[in-house]
Amino acid sequence: MGVWRGRSPFSLVLRLLIVPMIAVLGFHYASFISVSARDPQFNGKSLCSSGAAATCAEQLMALFSGPVRAGNLTAARAGELRSCVRPLVPYHEISPSSGCVLDDESYAVPSTRRRRRRLQESQFAMPQFSSVDDLFEVNAMLVNGGDIDGDAREKMERLAQWPPPEILQLAKRAVEFGGDPSAVLTELSPIRHSVPDVENSTAERCSLTKYDYGNRFDDDVINSYIVFLYHAISMLSPFVGLNVSLSRFDLFHGHMFTSYDTSRLGILFHSREYPAYDEKTFPLNLGFCQKGSSIPYDKSMDLRNILWLAPLVRCTKQGIADDWLASGALLILDAREGGVVYRELVPEYLDYVRTISEDEFGDHVADINYLNLDISPPERRVFIC
Ligand SMILES: *[C@@H]1O[C@H](CO)[C@@H](O)[C@H](O)[C@H]1NC(C)=O
Ligand SMILES: *[C@@H]1O[C@H](CO)[C@@H](O)[C@H](O)[C@H]1NC(C)=O
Ligand SMILES: *[C@@H]1O[C@H](CO)[C@@H](O)[C@H](O)[C@H]1NC(C)=O
Repeated sequence: MGVWRGRSPFSLVLRLLIVPMIAVLGFHYASFISVSARDPQFNGKSLCSSGAAATCAEQLMALFSGPVRAGNLTAARAGELRSCVRPLVPYHEISPSSGCVLDDESYAVPSTRRRRRRLQESQFAMPQFSSVDDLFEVNAMLVNGGDIDGDAREKMERLAQWPPPEILQLAKRAVEFGGDPSAVLTELSPIRHSVPDVENSTAERCSLTKYDYGNRFDDDVINSYIVFLYHAISMLSPFVGLNVSLSRFDLFHGHMFTSYDTSRLGILFHSREYPAYDEKTFPLNLGFCQKGSSIPYDKSMDLRNILWLAPLVRCTKQGIADDWLASGALLILDAREGGVVYRELVPEYLDYVRTISEDEFGDHVADINYLNLDISPPERRVFIC
């Protein structure tokens, strides 16, 4: 069967057994799954949490973590990684003179000529932070499906690169507490909100979220920013070849994490969560939530992993500073077959669904769900589990 790309029957069995089993147990197959006792050289491809995957994830992060960290990668490796990244907004590095710590060994400026040249080629910029008014204005347009003109597009990009102060505060907090998830979780309001029916999910006995209730951030600006991220992804993705719908079969969840290397706050979104069952192209039973799906299993699965990174604050031995090493980043990871993301970051048993786990990037904080229902204000569509 060509669709299985001629892999061994064992890998077919592995997929057919493990993925539905996980779905039945009530987890998203996208979530972290540990399958032990496997040959690490299985099919010659790296497995979940393998050294190769960890290195690849760390290097991807480095690529968007300012010139010093990015400069630690060879040009060839950086090029290979970039070939599997589709940015939704431009990413800004901050010039070393305005951002880099020189008294800290781990941030020491690399000195080879090659690296110096690459630093000069980088696109440096000074942060231009967005205001809360920008956020509300852009959200009103995005949520109501209004026309996005050049001015609004620019504001959208800036919101992703340089979010309003409330988001920056949260990002700083994550770093200040060394990536401890509770630094973020304590910012949630204790009020629990019941997860509503989504497009007939209740009748289908489908539980989309980890719990049947969710919390929200105490500060509603952060909830607004989550609304923004979902709608911005949906609006910007077609420009890089992916049509995303904010439906319960496609994009409704992301996994918030704090990165292992810098404690940076990020969200790994998974679109195309429940492709339709199809005997030929997608013979996988993903449980109740898959019923009624009309998402085709096609090339767009390659683009289902979408990454948001908060701006990266400068950190010294004395603590966090007031300036920034890198802007926020919003990008699609291209897991096409043969590319570096597919080879190194997608574990073998999830090849078929192209899922990357947030565990590769950092410590899991919470699932960030956005249920795009006709609920107003849209912040009430956010459910954090
Ligand atoms: C540069 O790479 C080396 C080896 O991969 C690593 O040990 C070091 O921490 C990296 N430095 C920075 C600034 O990322
Ligand atoms: C919801 O699903 C149930 C059971 O499949 C079905 O009877 C009902 O007509 C559906 N309702 C809508 C609005 O699709
Ligand atoms: C996305 O949708 C538009 C409008 O329906 C269509 O023209 C375009 O071909 C689609 N792009 C992809 C990559 O499917």
